[in-house]
Formats: sequence, structure tokens, C-alpha cells
Amino acid sequence: MSIIKFLELDSKVDNRGYLGILESTRHIPFDIKRIYFLKNLQSDIPRGFHTHKKLIQAAVCISGNYEMILDDGKNKESVALNSSHSPLLIEPLIWHEMQNFSHDCIILVLASDFYFEDDYVRDYEQFLRMVNEEI
Ligand code: TYD
Repeated sequence: MSIIKFLELDSKVDNRGYLGILESTRHIPFDIKRIYFLKNLQSDIPRGFHTHKKLIQAAVCISGNYEMILDDGKNKESVALNSSHSPLLIEPLIWHEMQNFSHDCIILVLASDFYFEDDYVRDYEQFLRMVNEEI
């Protein structure tokens, strides 16, 4: 099974434009406790390079495009994302990296919990040990 998982959002489109709808537990499989967004991203400066122990996230490309790399320690997959894509699910223990941002790229992230640095694993070798159940 692919580690690239999309969620279904609701949308209303008419001659006034596009309205995207994301409700906790209905479209997003968790209670949303935190929202953050990324903008003014640099095409040549990738971000991410971490995983989370427990946090579940959904990333929505609101504008522009970028590339997400997801890695479960065994398989690594890359997906080019733009604003026509559904939210991308980022599950715990999935290493993620973002790169090749367009100048107008805006990424909205919905998270299942508040920010806790202790939930982060920023060392790739430690991540590999964790998913291989060595720690
Ligand atoms: P960082 O994890 O480096 O961002 P990215 O994964 O996009 O590369 O986060 C940058 C800084 O912001 C870091 O010091 C942690 C902090 N931060 C918060 O304080 N709250 C948050 O909700 C997030 C996502 C990050």
C-alpha cells in the first residue's frame, strides 16, 4: 500500500470561486488542535526532515505547488502537489521532506495536537531505529 494517502475534502464551486471545507473527524480523521501554514518558501531550501512520534497531520496546498517526500523507513515516495490536490495525510512515524516550492506556494497544515518538540524525531538514523523497533 502506498504511503501517499489523500483525504477527501468538501468543496463548493460556483461562479464566485472555490470554497474548500475541512471538518474535524468528518474530512480530517482527528480533532484539529493546531493549524499552521508555510509561505514565502524558497525553491532551493527544502524543509521538514523529521517525523513525529504521535502527531497526525493533514497538509493542504492552498496555492502554488511543491514536492513532498514521505518515507516509512522501508519505502520512500515522492509526490508533486498543487492546489487541486486533496489534503495529504502525514501519519506518525513517516519521515517527511518538502522541496521545490513555487514562489506562490502556501501550505496549510492541520495537526492533531499542540506543538511539542519532544514529539519530533529530527535524526534520520534514530527514525530508522524506531521504525525497525530497535528503540
Ligand atoms: P520546523 O520544524 O523547523 O519547520 P519545518 O518542519 O517546516 O521545516 O519549525 C521551525 C520552528 O518553528 C522550530 O523552532 C519549531 C517551531 N514551531 C513552533 O513553535 N510551533 C509549530 O506549530 C511549528 C510547526 C513549529
